[in-house]
Amino acid sequence: MKRLLFAGTTIAVLTAAAASWAAMDPIATRQAVMKNNGAAMGALAGMAKGEAPFDANAANLAVRVLFNGAVGFTDLFPDGTQTGMDTEASPKIWEDMAGFKAKGVALEEAAAGVIATPITDLDGVKAALGAIGKTCGGCHETYRVKKDG
Ligand code: HEC
Repeated sequence: MKRLLFAGTTIAVLTAAAASWAAMDPIATRQAVMKNNGAAMGALAGMAKGEAPFDANAANLAVRVLFNGAVGFTDLFPDGTQTGMDTEASPKIWEDMAGFKAKGVALEEAAAGVIATPITDLDGVKAALGAIGKTCGGCHETYRVKKDG
């Protein structure tokens, strides 16, 4: 009887977990985080190219968005999300999760470095773009398979 009860509880817990994954799909979530990254880097690049006026608040906010996006990002790749929703995640992520996580930490640390010494001028925007931008490419070159150019 005890064993039966236990089995019932396990099934209930598993069902709840499945329901919460459906509500917060990890593939959709990680793609949304990355779209935010693209927008934040776009805001910095716009200033660096002179297409948008320098705005220290906007620049530092963009860096904050990048930092927030990096925290926990690499946990959005649970087993079973290797395919689906046109994911561009490379199978290499699941072959070398530690290496992948290190690339996430690199972005987190680059953004944290800029937060520690906030941007005050256009040179700061350019320096942040360089320091943070190389961590984007550093992960994508190995762990992202670009499907649509
Ligand atoms: C730790 C690895 C990692 C880092 C660091 C990283 N990315 Fe990504 N990025 C990915 C992966 C993996 C995908 C594919 C996700 C998917 O489709 O499931 C992706 C997808 C994207 C996409 C496409 C999103 C979509 O579905 O439309 C953009 C844009 C993007 N990244 C921008 C950036 C920018 C900008 C940075 C740096 C600020 C960055 N990424 C840093 C791993 C990373």
